[in-house]
Amino acid sequence: MCVKIGLCSDHAGLDYKAKLIKKLEKKGFEVVDYGTSSHESCDYCDFAHALAHGIESGEVEKGIALCGTGNGMAITLNHHHGLRAGLAWNVEVGKLIKEHNNAQVLVLPARFVSYRMASAITEAWLESEFEGGRHLRRIEKIEP
Ligand code: RB5
Repeated sequence: MCVKIGLCSDHAGLDYKAKLIKKLEKKGFEVVDYGTSSHESCDYCDFAHALAHGIESGEVEKGIALCGTGNGMAITLNHHHGLRAGLAWNVEVGKLIKEHNNAQVLVLPARFVSYRMASAITEAWLESEFEGGRHLRRIEKIEP
């Protein structure tokens, strides 16, 4: 079955988002683009909320969000009940946010990693599996 994946960015992540969309479509993913669509300065929160609503409504299963540091996107997404957005800056962390945190959203700091690295992190995250066990117990304790 085709996996549906949502992407969003602000102006700082727009170029990487466009490249990642092409890459994912080539790999056979069905992609929904939640914006932004221009280089004009914008507010990352608007696009993070759009992606979060896409996951919450079941329109997409998982997502990738990009902004300059990744933190604006991660902070906003993690305000959504039940969503786990993990910021990753290398391949190892990209794997771990799935294996240990079961992050439904990968967040990439577009101004601090090369596109080649962003692409490699994306592959690592997509190919990894949640390990469950003690990590499930920890996830269940996240909600205060
Ligand atoms: C935009 O200048 C920048 O603030 C944004 O991309 C992001 O880094 C915020 O967390």
